[in-house]
Amino acid sequence: MKTQIGIIGAGPAGLILAQLLHLQGIDSVILERKSRNNIEGTVKAGILEQTTIDILREMGVGGRMDREGHFHNGNYFQFNGQRRHIDLKKYSGGKQVVVYPQHEVIIDLVNARYENGKDIIFDVEDVTLHDIDTNQPKIRYRKNGLDEELVCDFIAGCDGYHGPSRLAIPDRKEHVHFYQYGWLGILSDSAPAADELIYASHDQGFALLSTRTSILQRHYLQVDPYDDINNWSDDRIWSELTARTKTNDGWQVPDGPINSKGIFQMRSFVCETMQYGRLFIAGDAAHTVPPTGAKGLNLAATDVKVMSRGITEFYQSGSTDVLDRYSEICLRRVWKAERFSYFMTRLLHTDPKFDSFERGVQLAELDYYTSSEAGLSTIAENYVGLPIQWGNVGDIKSLIN
Ligand code: FAD
Ligand code: DHB
Repeated sequence: MKTQIGIIGAGPAGLILAQLLHLQGIDSVILERKSRNNIEGTVKAGILEQTTIDILREMGVGGRMDREGHFHNGNYFQFNGQRRHIDLKKYSGGKQVVVYPQHEVIIDLVNARYENGKDIIFDVEDVTLHDIDTNQPKIRYRKNGLDEELVCDFIAGCDGYHGPSRLAIPDRKEHVHFYQYGWLGILSDSAPAADELIYASHDQGFALLSTRTSILQRHYLQVDPYDDINNWSDDRIWSELTARTKTNDGWQVPDGPINSKGIFQMRSFVCETMQYGRLFIAGDAAHTVPPTGAKGLNLAATDVKVMSRGITEFYQSGSTDVLDRYSEICLRRVWKAERFSYFMTRLLHTDPKFDSFERGVQLAELDYYTSSEAGLSTIAENYVGLPIQWGNVGDIKSLIN
């Protein structure tokens, strides 16, 4: 089998890339390890930043997001029992975020793929990459017990943190940072906590109150990443969420039956470089962030926007300018999102090893960022998503555009 772009992975990165390429008349084949039901049913991210909203709309797959998503102009940061509003729209020049779950984005993108008359090859096994330093890279895999080979012009490695693509890049530098924080995430049948998300810092730990629909809520608690979910009864979860998010005026989070719960670890990770020969990696395959800044899916979307522009220019004019600088353009933005996610994580989580001085500094930082114009602007412009800077790193004009 032959195609122009062989895409490994049908997560947000792979599916957005396929649609962007399709709109430019470029053919692709998507190989996915899991089943369609699995990728359309896994609960992950919730927040799409303005940059991603724009990409989905430009691609013609923003219709359901626009109808069913909850658009927010701001969010709340809470500490010492006081809630402070961050007016994201005001401090970012009119930008917004939307609560629209990742699996709904996946459903929309898979539907768009089939409406384009294209396929996704699900349930593939043993994917390996070959000849990536030649003009005819190949992907070998097994499907229904048969060995298959896909010959491509380029390979897009969109296969997440555990996929094989990154490992095919020789001499890469991997930067990893672990946190002693984990998140316990729940879905509950309960009323929304507020009109916008609440990020709460408390002596007992961080809590995040998010939402899905008017009757289904998504909330998170900072926990020990190695804790066992069986130690967390529904009563214990609600009592911790209540303690960490109640306000001095007596407000308490609405509770209800919990229908799913799980604990996950967090890490910051960056792979330099994101390209080798005819292989380009994107999204979680190339970098991961702790979820506090809500950046993972959003970074995946902007990486593949850069990749699709580079590939389009190659086919339209033969220029490899953007492709040659793919890693440089992406990493410049990735490092800023890594910085923001690290900053948000340290600003909001409480460390059991903190002394009273360190907690005092953290509370002062929270006060500063939620009350000074400079602090509010910093949070807002990063949370709604920084622009892609297409120019060379040394080119001052590109910093401004
Ligand atoms: P993935 O979604 O991991 O997709 C990779 C795909 O490749 C998968 O379908 C996988 O099955 C497939 N694959 C892997 N190996 C192979 C193989 N060998 N062969 C073929 N296919 C393979 N991000 C945000 O932007 N906002 C948020 O609010 C947010 N909240 C989050 C909350 C939680 C609880 C979690 C867990 C994550 C959150 N994220 C958030 C992060 C976001 O979910 C990820 O960053 C995003 O899924 C990355 O997309 P991706 O396409 O790069 O990778
Ligand atoms: C959600 C997840 C996040 O990581 C975040 O920062 C905000 C919201 C969510 O799943 O709703």
